[in-house]
Amino acid sequence: MKIAVIGTGYVGLVTGTCFANKGHDVICVDVIEEKIQKINEGTVPIFEEGLDEMLKDVVSKKKLKATLNMKEAITNSELIYICVGTPSKEDGAFDYVYLKDAAQKIGEVIKELDEYKVIVVKSTCSPGTTMNLVKPILEETSQKTAGKDFGLGMNPEFLREGVAIKDFLNPDRIVVGGIDEKSQEIITKSYEGFESPFLNVDPTTAEMIKIASNSFLAMKISFINEIANIAEKIGSDIQDIAKGIGMDDRISIRFLRAGLGYGGSCFPKDIQALHRQSVEMGVPSDLLKATMKVNEAQPLRAAEILIEEMDDRSLENRKIGVLGLAFKPDTDDVREAVSITLIEYLLERGAKVFATDPIAIKNFREILNHENLTLTSKVEDVLTDSDACILVTEWKEYLNLSPSTFKELMKIPLVIDGRRSLDAEKFRNEEITFKSIGLGR
Ligand code: UDX
Repeated sequence: MKIAVIGTGYVGLVTGTCFANKGHDVICVDVIEEKIQKINEGTVPIFEEGLDEMLKDVVSKKKLKATLNMKEAITNSELIYICVGTPSKEDGAFDYVYLKDAAQKIGEVIKELDEYKVIVVKSTCSPGTTMNLVKPILEETSQKTAGKDFGLGMNPEFLREGVAIKDFLNPDRIVVGGIDEKSQEIITKSYEGFESPFLNVDPTTAEMIKIASNSFLAMKISFINEIANIAEKIGSDIQDIAKGIGMDDRISIRFLRAGLGYGGSCFPKDIQALHRQSVEMGVPSDLLKATMKVNEAQPLRAAEILIEEMDDRSLENRKIGVLGLAFKPDTDDVREAVSITLIEYLLERGAKVFATDPIAIKNFREILNHENLTLTSKVEDVLTDSDACILVTEWKEYLNLSPSTFKELMKIPLVIDGRRSLDAEKFRNEEITFKSIGLGR
């Protein structure tokens, strides 16, 4: 099929590249010339495992190209996926400025065309956005009618950063929210050959499925984090507890890893937006509110443990090492990362923070700068002469560090595992004071 993808951010680029890999002819559209150039050279402007090679391959086979020209892309495509960003506004609602702009430009182009096109919203948005915002803009600007002159639908993505290609090609389910049978059929056709189950619903339901899925996963994380905090007090290990809970098929072990909380570009903003919508609609969600509250407090658990361990209960002028800045391993993304909240707190308490990350330092520097914050690519610089060290992101390279390295380099061998990922026994055998989220022993 001929497919246009509007927006070459994270979702757009993965979507376009994977569709091209599946044999479709894809044209990606963006407003940033530099991005277009890079993509046409087969270079990925973002960090995502496997995307680089796949993009190079589809560009060289001429299955994917990028352009600034919306008209060219739409004219030459039967299916148009809108993948523009929907960031959070200050009040927590989604900002639809790019979505509106995309809908308007698409509408203007299809006004002049006779062929039937199907427009699909892939951007995450509040339930009702496709029908109440995108549809009216498209109809007004095109002077045409959705469901008659053009098709429309909502097809959410469930991509996790770092494994987005795998998630795109082998999804647990493909949710297709078309406004009518024809739209439904054409959207479904773009996934021909996928072996995943399909779920056909209306666009608003599709939007709700996406945002409620993320909310549920975040709720699972906040739940296990609360249980972890209790486990610490009762003298149990959250790893064993999560294992035991997760052995129940109805619950499953996935997303029951306790730690300093969730971050990233999706969970925090999706939950906030759904909570806001629930309040506006007069059905305020207590569970979503509690999920957010637990997550806001959780990064500070590491600081609390740290302060409890200090003989004078003070962090003033203490050198605190932080391992990991990205919101999770295998990404350079620091958006809403718990490292930000934690490091800010440590700095406020007068600590001298030395932090490292394999690839996220550059992005972190753009978010936080402070005279008492040193960002370094060297783990040794973080550990040397430190009063304590906190594991914030469970990168493999940190999990593989030998406890003796900590012991040799640190001034006070105090290690706080913020992700319940390190082997407590091994650390304690080295006479290191080892504390972890959810570890009460
Ligand atoms: C998430 C959803 O998983 C994906 O389906 C959606 O499309 C986008 O949002 P992503 O943000 O890439 O994906 O990361 P994910 O792997 O889900 O992790 C999100 C956050 O939760 C991370 O900060 C991670 O450290 C944390 N997390 C995850 C936990 O603290 N415990 C867990 O058990 C799982």
